[in-house]
Amino acid sequence: MLAGQHIILGVTGGIAVYKAVELCRLFVKAGAQVRVVMTEAAKQFVTPLTFQTISKQPVYDRLFIGSERFSVEHVGLAQEADLFVIAPATANTLGKIANGIADNLLTTTLMAAKCPILLAPAMNTNMYENPLQQANLKKLAAVGYHFVGPEQGELACGDQGRGRMSEPQAIFTAACQLLLADPFWQGKHVLVTAGPTREAIDPIRFLTNRSSGKMGYAVAEVAALLGADVTLISGPVDLMPPPGVKTIMVTTAQEMYDAVTAHFPAVDVVVKAAAVADYRPLRQCKQKIKKGNELNLVLVQNPDILAELGRQKQQQILVGFAAETDNLRENAEKKLIQKKLDLIVANNVLQEGAGFAADTNIIQIFYRNGEEKQFPKMTKHQVAREVLNAVKELKNNPVS
Ligand code: C5P
Repeated sequence: MLAGQHIILGVTGGIAVYKAVELCRLFVKAGAQVRVVMTEAAKQFVTPLTFQTISKQPVYDRLFIGSERFSVEHVGLAQEADLFVIAPATANTLGKIANGIADNLLTTTLMAAKCPILLAPAMNTNMYENPLQQANLKKLAAVGYHFVGPEQGELACGDQGRGRMSEPQAIFTAACQLLLADPFWQGKHVLVTAGPTREAIDPIRFLTNRSSGKMGYAVAEVAALLGADVTLISGPVDLMPPPGVKTIMVTTAQEMYDAVTAHFPAVDVVVKAAAVADYRPLRQCKQKIKKGNELNLVLVQNPDILAELGRQKQQQILVGFAAETDNLRENAEKKLIQKKLDLIVANNVLQEGAGFAADTNIIQIFYRNGEEKQFPKMTKHQVAREVLNAVKELKNNPVS
């Protein structure tokens, strides 16, 4: 998700440094190149070796090397950065940068930076509430510095109150929002469906499929990071709702149909990644079905939600998914036409790295004008970005 992005992670000396290690790992895992700059105080809590190992880059900590050499690394580091994050940001460092002091490699690099700056303050509540500290924070916000946290909770000194550094995942999300925000997606409403549906046979058993929901959740998460207003309608899955996404949980295909059609008129884009059960039992037994010699289940067809959206479609872009085991192109193109989709994302679920529960997918995108695009194996978040990019291109250059 962050491939090609250069992030400077500034680490100052507070107990929350241990959480900055996890933040560094999240950035690296998302594909970013991370350069860690530490203050002397930070090194009292965690050694540079830890950050060096996680970031796979040397750690920067000294303005003066030896007695005569003056490092000019700060200028180069600052120039290549797409984002500068300071986590934890102590009262001391915040106070220095608010007042234009550049007396170590971190504050000097920050002063040379022109990229967006994200600060994750961490300090004792009394320090946080100190009027001088508050004035510094206001001053920094006024010149465009971004903040995440601090949160309310238990502090290292045993006090309760505001001052805890935000959790690594929350800082990561705030950083992704700054890096990925795209004016195209601001104010756009995206509706995503994800996961399987469950069709009850009796109070205990149900029919379902192998969908994990990972693909749809990735689309919803990435769309929100790009700046869209996202509603996710999800079948039963084992995933946390993505941050900043309005998530509605449903169980059956009929419930998904009702929720999707209620939201449809107000949305700009629909991405239907859900694996909706095509059939449900004609009758649901009120009591548990007892063992017998033979059991015949009569199944009736569920409504095809996407086909219905195709019928109702006005300005919306419709994106379908086709999980196939054979004749990928033929099946995908048939659905594209029958359901009146703008594009369809097809994958062969039997291919290694493209299955339901995997974290990766191998996709092909088919368009109405016969065009198609093939992609290598990617993480589901990368796939989500490609699908949303395809939607953006289509909105900018519509095809008949
Ligand atoms: O026809 P098939 O199920 O293969 O089509 C897949 C696409 O149609 C997916 O985008 C899926 O979310 C959607 N679909 C639907 N309602 C159904 C069945 C599939 O919206 N009942």
